[in-house]
Amino acid sequence: MRALGTLLAAVGLIAAVPPSPTPAPRLAHTDGRYALMVDGAPYLVLGAQVNNSSAWPAMLPKVWPAIEQVHANTVLVPIAWSQIEPTEGHFDFSFLDTLVAQAREHHVRLSLLWFGTWKNNGPSYAPDWVKLDDKRFPRVVTKEGEERGSLSPVFPETLKADSTAFAQLMRHLRQIDGARHTVILVQVENETGVYSAVRDHSPAAETLFAGQVPAELASARHVSGTWREAFGRDADEVFEAWYTARFVDQVAEAGKAEYALPMYANAALRDPFGPQDPLTFSSGGPTHDVLDVWKAAAPAIDLIGPDIYQPQSRNYEKVLDLYHRPDNATYVAETGNAAAYGRYVFTTLGHQGIGFSPFGLDFSGYSNFPLGAPKLDADALRPFAMDYELLGPMSRLLASLSYAGKVWGVSEPDAEHSQDLKLGAWSATVSYGQLQFGMDPPKGNPTPSGGALIAELAPNEYLVTGYLARVSFHPTDPAQKHTLITRVEEGRYEDGKWVFEREWNGDQTDYGLNFTSTPQVLHVYLGTW
Ligand code: DGJ
Repeated sequence: MRALGTLLAAVGLIAAVPPSPTPAPRLAHTDGRYALMVDGAPYLVLGAQVNNSSAWPAMLPKVWPAIEQVHANTVLVPIAWSQIEPTEGHFDFSFLDTLVAQAREHHVRLSLLWFGTWKNNGPSYAPDWVKLDDKRFPRVVTKEGEERGSLSPVFPETLKADSTAFAQLMRHLRQIDGARHTVILVQVENETGVYSAVRDHSPAAETLFAGQVPAELASARHVSGTWREAFGRDADEVFEAWYTARFVDQVAEAGKAEYALPMYANAALRDPFGPQDPLTFSSGGPTHDVLDVWKAAAPAIDLIGPDIYQPQSRNYEKVLDLYHRPDNATYVAETGNAAAYGRYVFTTLGHQGIGFSPFGLDFSGYSNFPLGAPKLDADALRPFAMDYELLGPMSRLLASLSYAGKVWGVSEPDAEHSQDLKLGAWSATVSYGQLQFGMDPPKGNPTPSGGALIAELAPNEYLVTGYLARVSFHPTDPAQKHTLITRVEEGRYEDGKWVFEREWNGDQTDYGLNFTSTPQVLHVYLGTW
């Protein structure tokens, strides 16, 4: 049929047949592993989030050069409620239209960030008719009776207004992009929760709090009774988390009813290790301690991604461990843009990550130092550009292998200088801070910046890459002594195909496989004799 259409079009008898639409993006799930399916195949988000105030047509010329320099394949851009519905019931999608058109010209995909009722606790991105009307859209009230800036999650009018706007956004998006899928993900709200209050104590919230725990939550957490009876000291935070998640879920549902793209929530983190006073973190948001609550409350949210602004390797690993769960895909929704974070793409992939998105990558002149780099210029982009230059050409392959459970990745720790990976019959040691020649002990890079990635292509055959690291293979079974690297190919991926360039041997393999800051990809064949 298609061939006939093309033929008829070629001879000028009918207008050209439009390409058949690709399948809509979706999050696939098998055996506790995840893949973001884009155009019908696993996709790895090599993301870049723009600054909060860069989502205007006039700013896009300062966005695209940074995106090109960093080689991102996906750009995360806010869509502000105030921008699309400045007057109630009147919608303006001109920025979205411009953004989608320009993203296509720049051959990147988009993740839209819905800045609605919550943009880090406050409604700063809600229209004036919302944020100035606290009678119609009430705010969180503390235990002491003080109002906070954050809107309360328990009021149906707020939910109705937000979900109506979001549904209109998704409807418009389906109309302009439903066949092309330039937009592949949507974040619903931004870092929900409230600071300086644990939960809403407004009269409406107090009535709910005095009642029974909702049945879905009671059964998910095997509890019963009132909130206090069921959750004791944690009841206030769990209550806020439940109602915030229910709110976000219903906004997502309304959007998905118009256009069912994968939707996620991002998390402002609490201390990943210890107890923390809920007055000091974003209470009600999807912090690690309430992920079960969010999962029960928000089935329309496909995943919850941590925003990791903790550069210490111990913290980074812990946060990834906490959010990498059988019921949650690993996705670093935001991370710092300081150099220290560049290496963490490797451990993110090692946690079966479907994506990694440093924040604030544009040339608008803004820097969120000390969270990120002091200045956003080509030097600041370099660690991330190195990552994406290396991983971009093989990102589809890596996403497929990851979905099959065949990818391992590590990043250089702050204090230790070597790490062991069990790959099955083979193990690998990744070490840092050695000369390329000789067996000097690993002393770490001058600043921790190394990382390595290993993917099993076939039995005894591995794709190996990384930066500023040495990778050595050995058999997992110590009884198996006679093993060797039979062949090491260096090459590159072009259009998904391996292009051989040379073999490594002699000095290049005698002391392990040494990766520098030059992007290099190896195919390693292992054997026994
Ligand atoms: C986390 C938020 O989600 C971002 O929008 C931004 O405000 C950063 N914090 C800080 O730059």
